Amino acid sequence: MTQITLRRPDDWHLHLRDGAMMRAVLPETTRHFGRAIVMPNLVPPVVTGADAAAYRDRILAAKPRGSKFRPLMTLYLTEETQVRDLRAAAEIGLIAAVKLYPAGATTNSASGVRDFSKVRRVLDNMAQIGLPLLVHGEVTDPEIDIFDREAAFIDRVLDPIRRETPGLRVVMEHVTTSEAVGYVRDGGPDLAATITAHHLVINRNHILAGGIRPHYYCLPVAKRESHRRALVGAATGGDASFFLGTDSAPHTDAAKLQACGCAGCFTAPNAIATVAEVFDAEGALDRLEAFMSLNGPAFYRMAPNEDTITLTRGDPAPWPREIATGDGPVTVFDPGMPLHWRVA
Ligand code: NCD
Ligand code: ZN
Repeated sequence: MTQITLRRPDDWHLHLRDGAMMRAVLPETTRHFGRAIVMPNLVPPVVTGADAAAYRDRILAAKPRGSKFRPLMTLYLTEETQVRDLRAAAEIGLIAAVKLYPAGATTNSASGVRDFSKVRRVLDNMAQIGLPLLVHGEVTDPEIDIFDREAAFIDRVLDPIRRETPGLRVVMEHVTTSEAVGYVRDGGPDLAATITAHHLVINRNHILAGGIRPHYYCLPVAKRESHRRALVGAATGGDASFFLGTDSAPHTDAAKLQACGCAGCFTAPNAIATVAEVFDAEGALDRLEAFMSLNGPAFYRMAPNEDTITLTRGDPAPWPREIATGDGPVTVFDPGMPLHWRVA
C-alpha cells in the first residue's frame, strides 16, 4: 500500500502551553489534527470555567488563519473544584473532560489531588452527566519504583475510584504498561485509554542505554520492551478502547538539557507519520483510521471529523529537528527510524 485516506485524526491528549510557546507549537498540531484535548497544566493551572474560556480564546486567537482546528478544553481537578462551576462549563460545551493529576506526579501537577475523599462529590456529578475523567495514572509514593507507578496506580487509586463511582467514564491517559492495557481491555464501555506515538516506538533502553537521552524522558517513563509490545498490540489490535493521544509536551532545550531536566516529548510534528510507520510494520494499516480518527470521537460521544487526510508512502521523509519558539528552541521527537509516510 502506498496511499491511504482516512478521516482527519484528532489528538486526545495534548499540551499546548501558553504565550510564545503556544504560538510556536500550535501550527504543528493544527496542520493535520481536527481537534485536540488540551491539557490544563498551565502555571497556574486551568481550574475554573472562566479559566478554560480564557485559555480557549487565547488558543483560537493564535490559530493559523483558515484552520478549522477545534481545541477541546479540560479543567484541572483540584480539591477546591466547585461542582456548580464544573457542571455549568460542561452544560455549555465549554469543557470536554476533567483532568486528574495526583499531586506531584508530573510537570506542573503541584495543585493536583492529595485526598481523594475531597473530590468525591465532583466525581459523582461527573458520573451523572457523563463527563469523562482523564487520569494521569501514576502513584506519587516515593517508596514505589518509578517503573511500577502506573501498575500501582491501577490497584491503589483507579480501581477504587471506579468502584466507588459507578458510571464514571474514565480515560487512562498515555498508558505505558501491559497491566494498564489489560485493565482497560477488561474495563467495559466506560473505560478507555490513550496511547502516545512515542511509547509505541521507544522503550527504556532508548532513554538510558549507551548514554542518557533527555529528549526521550517523559512521564509516565517508557518501560521495558515487553510493555511497548503490549502497547503496539493494543493500538493495532482493533479494540475501540484505545486511541491516539500524543501527549506532545514541548519544553525548551534549556529546560530539558540540565541536571534535573523536564519530562515531556515534543511529538506534534511527526506523531502521525510515526504512528503510520508502526501500523505499517505490523501489517495493520487497515486499523489506522480507527486508532487515530474514530475510536476517540466514539468514546467522547462526538462525530468523527467530516474531512479526510491522505498519507502517502515514499522515500524516508525528513522531519524538522527543532522548532524555534520565543522561549528558545524545542527539539522534535526522533523516532529513531526512517519515516516513509507523510501527510500529502
Ligand atoms: C507533561 C508536561 O510536560 O506537561 N509531561 C510529560 O512527560 N508527559 C505532563 C504529563 O502529561 O505528564
Ligand atoms: Zn500529558
